[in-house]
Amino acid sequence: MQHQPIAVVDFGSQYTQLIVRRIRELGYYSKLYLPEELEQVKGTAAVILSGGPRSTSEPDAPDIDFTFLQSLGVPVLGVCYGMQLLNLKFGGSVSPCATKEYGPADLVKESSVEGGLFDDISPSSQVWMSHSDTVSDLPDGCQIMGRNRDGVPVALKWNDSFFGIQFHPEVSHSTEGTQMLEAFLKKAGDLPRFEMSSFKDELAQRVKDHVQGRKVVCGVSGGVDSSVLAALLHEAQVDTRNIFVDTGLLRKDEAAEVVRLFNSIGIEIEVIDASERFLTALAGESDPEEKRRIIGRLFVDVFFDAVGDDVELLAQGTLYPDVIESATSGSAASTIKTHHNRVDRIMELKEQGRVIEPLDELFKDEVRALGKVLGLPHDVVGRHPFPGPGLAVRCPGAITEEKLRIIREADAIYMSILRERDWYDKIWQAYAALIPTKTVGVKGDVRSYEYAMSIRAVTSEDAMTAEWVHLPYDMLGEISNRILNEVDGVNRVLYDISTKPPASIEWE
Ligand code: XMP
Repeated sequence: MQHQPIAVVDFGSQYTQLIVRRIRELGYYSKLYLPEELEQVKGTAAVILSGGPRSTSEPDAPDIDFTFLQSLGVPVLGVCYGMQLLNLKFGGSVSPCATKEYGPADLVKESSVEGGLFDDISPSSQVWMSHSDTVSDLPDGCQIMGRNRDGVPVALKWNDSFFGIQFHPEVSHSTEGTQMLEAFLKKAGDLPRFEMSSFKDELAQRVKDHVQGRKVVCGVSGGVDSSVLAALLHEAQVDTRNIFVDTGLLRKDEAAEVVRLFNSIGIEIEVIDASERFLTALAGESDPEEKRRIIGRLFVDVFFDAVGDDVELLAQGTLYPDVIESATSGSAASTIKTHHNRVDRIMELKEQGRVIEPLDELFKDEVRALGKVLGLPHDVVGRHPFPGPGLAVRCPGAITEEKLRIIREADAIYMSILRERDWYDKIWQAYAALIPTKTVGVKGDVRSYEYAMSIRAVTSEDAMTAEWVHLPYDMLGEISNRILNEVDGVNRVLYDISTKPPASIEWE
């Protein structure tokens, strides 16, 4: 069965991606489209027009082909900007709000409206507002489904298929937002549920059709995304060379472990040991961005040295959030750190249509689910994210073999305790980092002057924000004791209690 996505048309709101996520959480397949891509949504069961930062009164405000939208004959929901745009299209008007609304607000539902979206929600429900324009004149026949506390209409039903809401149901502060989205999707009738196992077959077929017998090169890192990618290529019976670059910045025994895990499911991996090249190139460099640049460039050089210039197709484990982030121009997120998979050489291949990114419609948790149905072991799909620049971002300042040894040993102890105590799977990401400052201590009656280690554990949904994990004190004690006793060169262990923002998850 082909999965026909529920279409979310993106007018640029910071929350648009969340709409897609919520729909998928409800068990239906959904995708983002730009307004100018509307033709592509033909065949969809429902359309949602997102919010956006612009005002419909601006001369070049984003627009939609309304005739085409109506011709689809499917339910349409306008959210915020989407609602205002629809009101204009139906002949109503939009004007600046008397009072701008940002943050939580009450939705007072009109119980007289039949066939609306609020049948199952409370009479007064908390919703999340973020707007400076509002619908003013309403066209004939338009019904008001709900108002704010000031009596301003914030939810409209223009007819049996077209609905609009001024607030953001996708934001968790809209406490009954998911039910509202579900009520809207019910208007589309009996929608096919999204099943990962049949989606896997669909993806494998798509990969086969795309590859057309060409040779594929795939860089694997042992992380979830590239592992799932390699397994999908394997499933699609594509002729693939899986290359694993050992940058010398890996965790303890990582290269051997990755090879073992892949071999256990019948996938061959070529390991390129480039650790000396990386450590030489990084010697003495302490600027975080420069370190990333060195690693990024060298990684591509090493990779292409290994595969030669005759790459027919390069497979990349790009995920949906990466695609959205890079499409949102000027996104601050994309400039905070230099991600190493965006470099020129790969961009060139991409322009030539020689990059294949089969996971680019999936969120991280969906990639994990795909990995599971592809038969990857739990050790692979349940792995915490590990950044491309590896331990370099956990070793602030200049990198040395000695510092890397300390991080590896401390990290291995930390991870083994998290696993033993069944904490590993409850955490989004955990690691040990080295604080490049020596402090005074005593070891066996002798003064020591050694490094401090930072232990970090965070929960997160999408790595954009993160909370530190309240690990039990006795476990923190055990981690600290074991690191202090077993790792030479450390005399202090600190637990990192910083949220993101303002801290980031990694140290660099
Ligand atoms: P930050 O440190 O930005 O990290 O809060 C967010 C998430 O991204 C991972 N990360 C990276 N992954 N290349 C990657 O592949 C990178 O350069 C990189 N930098 C950070 C980080 O581990 C966390 O999961």
